[in-house]
Amino acid sequence: MNGAPVALVTGASRGIGAGIAEALARTGYGVAVNYLCDHRAAAAVVERIRAGGGVARAFQADVTSTSAAQALHEDVRRELGEVHALVLNATGPQPDVPLDDLDRKDLQDQLDHFVLGPLALVQAVVPAMRERRAGRIVFIGSEVVDLAPAHTAAYTAAKSAQAAMARVWARELAPHGITVNTVSPGFIPGDRHRDTPQAAIEDYTAQVPAGRLGTASDIGAAVAFLCSEAAAFIAGERLRVTGGHTIG
Ligand SMILES: NC(=O)c1ccc[n+]([C@@H]2O[C@H](COP(=O)([O-])OP(=O)(O)OC[C@H]3O[C@@H](n4cnc5c(N)ncnc54)[C@H](O)[C@@H]3O)[C@@H](O)[C@H]2O)c1
Repeated sequence: MNGAPVALVTGASRGIGAGIAEALARTGYGVAVNYLCDHRAAAAVVERIRAGGGVARAFQADVTSTSAAQALHEDVRRELGEVHALVLNATGPQPDVPLDDLDRKDLQDQLDHFVLGPLALVQAVVPAMRERRAGRIVFIGSEVVDLAPAHTAAYTAAKSAQAAMARVWARELAPHGITVNTVSPGFIPGDRHRDTPQAAIEDYTAQVPAGRLGTASDIGAAVAFLCSEAAAFIAGERLRVTGGHTIG
């Protein structure tokens, strides 16, 4: 390894995670690009970063599993070095389910992605950050925490729990030089939204004061800032990157 600080970004093979990985690489992080299934997509992100002169490597792991998250951390340490910045971005399918049809599995699945998987990874990276007295942890939240859209109870509950956890850990870890923050995107259309009707997209855009949809690079820029030296005194914040959609 070439001595660059290392960022581990979960779910970085596409969408917002890919934008975050590329933004962090541009600021000098060597990036561990985690993904679940699509090795080609992850390899393409790695290639783009390397083509720009950055350092990156793809790591397959299901971060909802505690043992896989721990093994991922060990792999990243071995291949790239100690993790200086951890970005918890991975998401699986997000159910659109009204109350009457909601079951425990829907909730469990969202908690696995946004609360329990992150717990294992945060516990894995923190000891070395504490020793170094420096570290950055960024959760990718969602504007649903502000807006509570109908039929999103499982997703919104898990993102809200995640936001609460981030603030608690920000308090616990700030004395050790480790910052914990959340970046909360608005709607950022990506592969996952291929079937979203154009009318719904236009409707949403019309409600965004900035007059446009956000992009993965908008989120990447916010995460890169929070992972920079300039953000050393920012702890426990939830930065909404929504073009004003969540102003209220
Ligand atoms: N896109 C949006 O509109 C939007 C809005 C608000 C918040 N967010 C949040 O941003 C984050 C990224 O969303 P996206 O839309 O870019 O998602 P996406 O579906 O485009 O990408 C998900 C990524 O997570 C990975 N992944 C899925 N399950 C995984 C697992 N178990 N272990 C490891 N990796 C796994 C996939 O391989 C992929 O790289 C999520 O936390 C999401 O809740 C997205």
